[in-house]
Amino acid sequence: MAEHVYIRDVASHVGQQITVKGWLYNKRDKGKLQFLLVRDGTGIIQAVAFRDEISTEAFAAAINVTQESSLIATGSVRADKRAPGGFELSLSDLQIVQLAQDYPISPKEHGIDFLMDRRHLWLRSTQQWAIIRVRATVIRAIRDWLDNNGFILVDTPILTPAACEGTTTLFETQYFGEKAYLAQSGQLYNEATIMAFGRTYCFGPTFRAEKSKTRRHLIEFWMVEPEMAYADLDECMRVEEELVSYIVQRALEERAEELKVLERDTSKLHIAPPFPRMSYDEALVILKKASEELPWGEDFGAPHETILASERDKPLFVHRYPAQCKAFYMEADPQNPKLSLSVDLLAPEGYGEIIGGGQRTASLELLERRLEEHKLPREAFEWYLDLRRYGSVPHSGFGLGVERTVTWICGVHHIRETIPFPRTLGRIYP
Ligand code: 4AD
Ligand code: MG
Repeated sequence: MAEHVYIRDVASHVGQQITVKGWLYNKRDKGKLQFLLVRDGTGIIQAVAFRDEISTEAFAAAINVTQESSLIATGSVRADKRAPGGFELSLSDLQIVQLAQDYPISPKEHGIDFLMDRRHLWLRSTQQWAIIRVRATVIRAIRDWLDNNGFILVDTPILTPAACEGTTTLFETQYFGEKAYLAQSGQLYNEATIMAFGRTYCFGPTFRAEKSKTRRHLIEFWMVEPEMAYADLDECMRVEEELVSYIVQRALEERAEELKVLERDTSKLHIAPPFPRMSYDEALVILKKASEELPWGEDFGAPHETILASERDKPLFVHRYPAQCKAFYMEADPQNPKLSLSVDLLAPEGYGEIIGGGQRTASLELLERRLEEHKLPREAFEWYLDLRRYGSVPHSGFGLGVERTVTWICGVHHIRETIPFPRTLGRIYP
């Protein structure tokens, strides 16, 4: 049998006999000629069966093969500009591995619930395939940048005794008779690890029992959280813009084909530092002009973020939010203690917040007061208070949501398509 070649590599096999192992994506029947679109996970190639050139059995297989049947195709590679992908396989043999009966997802339009119920199959569709491949590149780019810029990976736990991001979205579970929660963030543990390692990051799944059913919210999502000792708010923003620019650059370089499948206007992704910055107070003025007045102290909702960032061709930093609308751990602004040294990064084109972060409270007294104000159980945070007792330093960090970032880079409407098996309000199947 001819050499097994992945479709992504066919360009270097022009004129050779090869074998492709995959599935039937689509088919056109032209009588003597059968045009089979074959996918193998790495790409799609058109395979052509010509009745006069192959065995009766092989041609019968080409006639009978159905959408998503698994198959092994052998033939010679031809460069052909008209073929999707630029290459074609002239078949000399075709074997059906398993004949699929009535594949439920046809090329016609389906409703989203129908597709989500069949997510395990939907992932085979070109658009979904493209999104998940961009996601893989985004994740690798994040790791590469952090690993190459002085951050060390330190994993943080998923089963935790306390809340990090407010108690309303906690997932409660049992830990041998004690209450425990699924991690909303690894940040608090990162604040411990930077005192041991300087600059660290954790990267894993995080959980929020979000009651909101929006196109930006998942219940389970992946977050990368870099944390830095001896870093202030400005340094935090500098690291964020470097990291985000690098991620986007890598996606543009390595996933051009996938972004084309997604019909992404990539001219909108040519971003480079520095990113524009504005304070929360400045943002309120802009919102007021846009007739979206917001009382001072309230956090932005999706419409506000869209107004603020949609005029820009780069992501936008909004910093110094009122302390009252942010988490308990935010450092107070020395210029105005009602403000926090927090910063969100808003993606352009209305994709909203992709990063939340800022400088953390360094003082034991302020932190104790904040725990009380937020009615958080002090016992569970004793270890966290220790970090302020033994060598406290100014420090900062942030969390970047992988799926929000992929949604923006891919230009897809809803976040649920950017994770292989989404957990959304009311959906845990499949
Ligand atoms: O703004 P958040 O809640 O910040 C934190 O969790 C900090 N502890 C991070 C840190 O400083 N280490 O979440 C950070 C990011 C958001 O900007 C967003 O991209 C994403 O995580 N995110 C979500 N993504 C999908 N679904 C949700 N329900 C999300 N909640 C937050
Ligand atoms: Mg946030």
